[in-house]
Amino acid sequence: MSGDKSFGPSRRAFLTGAGALAAGGAASRAVAGSGPEIAIEPWMQELGVGVDAAPYGLPSRFEADVKRRSVPWLTADPVSSVNFTPLHDLDGIITPNGLCFERHHGGVAQIDPAAYRLMINGRVDRPLVFTMEDLKRFPRENRVYFLECAANSGMEWRGAQLNGCQFTHGMIHNVMYTGIPLKLLLEEAGVIPSGKWLLAEGADAAGMTRSIPMEKALDDCMIAFKMNGEALRPEQGYPVRLVVPGWEGNMWVKWLRRLEVGDQPWHHREETSKYTDLLEDGSARRFTWEMDAKSVITNPSPQAPITHGPGPTVLTGVAWSGRGTIPRVDVTLDGGINWHQARMDGPSMPKSMHRFYYEFDWDGSPLLLQSRAHDSTGYVQPTKDQLRAVRGENSIYHNNGIQTWAVDADGRAENVEIS
Ligand code: MTE
Ligand code: CO
Repeated sequence: MSGDKSFGPSRRAFLTGAGALAAGGAASRAVAGSGPEIAIEPWMQELGVGVDAAPYGLPSRFEADVKRRSVPWLTADPVSSVNFTPLHDLDGIITPNGLCFERHHGGVAQIDPAAYRLMINGRVDRPLVFTMEDLKRFPRENRVYFLECAANSGMEWRGAQLNGCQFTHGMIHNVMYTGIPLKLLLEEAGVIPSGKWLLAEGADAAGMTRSIPMEKALDDCMIAFKMNGEALRPEQGYPVRLVVPGWEGNMWVKWLRRLEVGDQPWHHREETSKYTDLLEDGSARRFTWEMDAKSVITNPSPQAPITHGPGPTVLTGVAWSGRGTIPRVDVTLDGGINWHQARMDGPSMPKSMHRFYYEFDWDGSPLLLQSRAHDSTGYVQPTKDQLRAVRGENSIYHNNGIQTWAVDADGRAENVEIS
């Protein structure tokens, strides 16, 4: 906590709040003339479980509500569907592995790493096939990146629809990857001068493919096999996925089996009929790879109302940009009449999520909450109206417009749009 003037509640207000809590709390009693007391609870009177109870640890049973969720009407069939990261339950910048949203077009492939092979072919001097053992002999790096599906917030394009940041913004996760710079594998194969594009192909039943320009492949793409220190989860592409920092999630091919080097893009399904932006005049934007700066307030939000009543309140959220870092986020409590600079906290890494906080003294009146991200290129997150003015109303993908939550006097929050 800094001495920053913008930093939240006065000390006195905070102490009053804490005193009120101690007097009213179920497990506490204030006895006249003495200090507060807290109860001796059952868990202090018996031994806990031993070290063998959970060889692979799980969250407390009191956290059972913290989970990925899907939207039934978006889920025609669970093997070609999506679930969402519970952003409102998380803090900091790292998404725990078990809570990373999943998007797959043909279910989760179950791949035995001993049988795993990665092929590089096409316009190369030496077509190669790598085993897991081979891959682990290349120098590796650790980097934190967000992955956002181009369809994140897609249902919100024409107006406020889903009630919760999990659903409006939860097609994103932020993970530390351990992997090999793709450049090293391409050097091993020897890309010939006409090799300008890569086709990345998944080993899942969807056989998903995407074209990636060679400059990006040689810049910062990775072949990842660990996430947050442990093996990739099957849902995230075990044993190997492609990492395409800052670019739309669809390009991050999971269960990666083949990289073909070619002289032009392939124009396959996922880059023509899907993941292109249909504009007002019926034409479509061809490739929209980079994810523009975006932010969302995760608390308070529809799934995380204010429950403590008026007084010191922590507002928090996340922001990210496919082009760099987020040096600044502004927040408003009154639908954009007054903006305040939020406090950024935690590591600030390019193409990674950033965490912001704004502590304020809530007076109990209704609020219109918004956040607005600025990225390191100077780009400022647009309003939804500004986006629609340029892109029309036909789009689904790449909606990075400012989100509004209306908080009522009871602290309940709702997804709304204001103009
Ligand atoms: N890779 C394969 N092989 N198959 C897929 O269905 N889905 C893509 C991409 N890579 C997909 C894939 C899409 S649309 C997204 S948004 C991301 O993976 C989702 O990654 P996640 O499941 O780790 O969240
Ligand atoms: Co996607």
